[in-house]
Amino acid sequence: MTITARAAVHDGAGNRLSVRTVQVADPGPGNVLVRMGASGVCGSDRHVLDGEWQLPSPTVMGHEGAGTVESVGDGVQDVRPGDHVVLSWFYPCRRCTACASGKAYACTGSRSEECVLPDGSTRLSSGGDPLFPYLAVGSMSEYAVVPESAAVRIPAEVPFDVASLIGCSVATGVGAVVNDAGVAPGESAVVVGAGGVGLSIVMGLRLAGADPVIAVDVSQEKLEAALALGATHAVLAGPRSVDDVRTIVAGGVDHAFEAIGRPETIEQLPAYLCRGGKAVLVGLPGVGTPVRFNALALAENGQSVIGSNYGSTVPARDFPRLAKLYLAGRLPVDRLISHRIRLDEVNEAFDAMRAGQRTRSVIVFDG
Ligand code: APR
Ligand code: ZN
Repeated sequence: MTITARAAVHDGAGNRLSVRTVQVADPGPGNVLVRMGASGVCGSDRHVLDGEWQLPSPTVMGHEGAGTVESVGDGVQDVRPGDHVVLSWFYPCRRCTACASGKAYACTGSRSEECVLPDGSTRLSSGGDPLFPYLAVGSMSEYAVVPESAAVRIPAEVPFDVASLIGCSVATGVGAVVNDAGVAPGESAVVVGAGGVGLSIVMGLRLAGADPVIAVDVSQEKLEAALALGATHAVLAGPRSVDDVRTIVAGGVDHAFEAIGRPETIEQLPAYLCRGGKAVLVGLPGVGTPVRFNALALAENGQSVIGSNYGSTVPARDFPRLAKLYLAGRLPVDRLISHRIRLDEVNEAFDAMRAGQRTRSVIVFDG
């Protein structure tokens, strides 16, 4: 049986989304039909809308979502109707060597980036033509069909708006700190860019016991949010930001995170670091964007630059942990949310993001 859903569709050109009714087919074998509770409005969706990344289109946008399992296809064992789930935008194939080694984030068999299910199909359509769910999630829709490995059960006490953010910005930010940088208690850190992802890094640093935690942003509003979420210092981005940070931590910080995706701010990371420090690239630039580093200085100072994608998240391990930390009051994800909006207000949310406003908009679905 095919059902209908209201969804935010990107037709491939221009940065506007059209909110319209689409068709959603029954989940096939191994798939899960999810009634969406909430979807975050993330910077990665904006990259697509602004033409910085190319995708199969038309695309149902959204990759940061949570909801309730409505029905399951043949063979699904991990979830059942009524379960609350956080969706992963990188579904592990569960067959490749990386998956077998517990490194779901390094899976080589996932087709998430093609925006299709494991069998190459999509269950979404409009007027008989296929629609591609962004990163095989497509959470800006009342319903989504995802592979079983992308739907991770979490306790029903976690509200959907919070749960949706666990699916991208929080997993990315906390994972960058814990899984990738391996921050130790008492180490110092700077976070450049305090949007949804950067603020999640700040929360992760607080959780890991880092000190000081310095946020750098062009927006005073974002800096205040960073302080509220556990940053110990806030520095307004500008020509003096490196000096300001090095005044707070003489000799430079142990860890520098970039959470914007701009070449200029990425190239600046080593300047914040102490000898032996680590720069972590979390923000994602446009396809094919080169950056330059001073190789001699990096080598002489024993510094490293590492890439971090989705915080090297293992969804089935990390989503329940993050949910538990939220419930224990250790990860104030709710404070990341500045705006709760309806699906019809999605274009305004992206405009606000382009203008550097709002910490996080979250679309909340009825029912
Ligand atoms: N210096 C410092 N901060 C800046 C600068 C700058 N030159 N330019 C922009 N910013 C800040 C903005 O004010 C905003 O607070 O960077 C932040 C970016 O946040 P969002 O637009 O909310 O984006 P977010 O969803 O956090 O994603 C950030 O991470 O995963 C990636 O694809 C994602 O590349 C994107 C990045
Ligand atoms: Zn995201």
